[in-house]
Amino acid sequence: MLELQSLTYHPATTAEPLLRDVSLRLPVGEPALVAGRSGSGKTTLLELISGLADPTRGRILWNGKALDARQRRWLCGLVFQFPERHFLGLTVAQELKLGQRRLSGERLQQVLGQVGLAELPLQEAPERLSGGQQRRLSLAVQLLRDPKLLLLDEPTAGLDWAVRSEVLQLLAELGRDRALLIVSHEPELFEGFVRHSWLLEKGHLRTMPKAVLG
Ligand SMILES: Nc1ncnc2c1ncn2[C@@H]1O[C@H](COP(=O)(O)OP(=O)(O)O)[C@@H](O)[C@H]1O
Ligand SMILES: [Mg+2]
Repeated sequence: MLELQSLTYHPATTAEPLLRDVSLRLPVGEPALVAGRSGSGKTTLLELISGLADPTRGRILWNGKALDARQRRWLCGLVFQFPERHFLGLTVAQELKLGQRRLSGERLQQVLGQVGLAELPLQEAPERLSGGQQRRLSLAVQLLRDPKLLLLDEPTAGLDWAVRSEVLQLLAELGRDRALLIVSHEPELFEGFVRHSWLLEKGHLRTMPKAVLG
């Protein structure tokens, strides 16, 4: 279980703290959502959890143990918003092997199967894949590391209706056996499978009022 205890984040570059006294508990197998308008601090929250930044105050725990930034980078798989803009590999196989010096063909096929890309030609260029396939590939890159906690920043942004529902179905599956935290400004899309939701507003996190989720 992930636990955030009174996180405050106030970088030297801002007049006001970006996050104030943010606490939450997120058990494995219970997908969770943080909603909030653009600029409310959602991406910043994921940067803190994933160890790309350190909170000014507060603690981040996994199964009761406080983790430093390096330990959090091991724990988490973070899929950025519009991950396909950051593909580096010339082929699908290369993209998957970045940062994975010893990757067996078996493990690679296993992960591609997990995201529904078992049939994908490995020599294809990532930018030639469809929008939905690109999002799946980005998830596969993180799943290869077998993260205990999967963090997704606006996972449905920029997808058309059909592709979106396909990605949502995959996320529901992935959330069954790991900790999953999604941040999005479109909370209603995730209603079907999310078990906990919060709203981030002016740096404060609170339990999502029922009216917002409908
Ligand atoms: N390291 C930083 N230094 C200064 N300002 C930042 C930093 N990171 C984010 N911000 C600002 O914090 C606010 C929240 O940003 P962000 O977390 O990206 O929001 P969201 O993902 O909800 O749209 C924005 O106003 C952004 O410009
Ligand atoms: Mg953001």
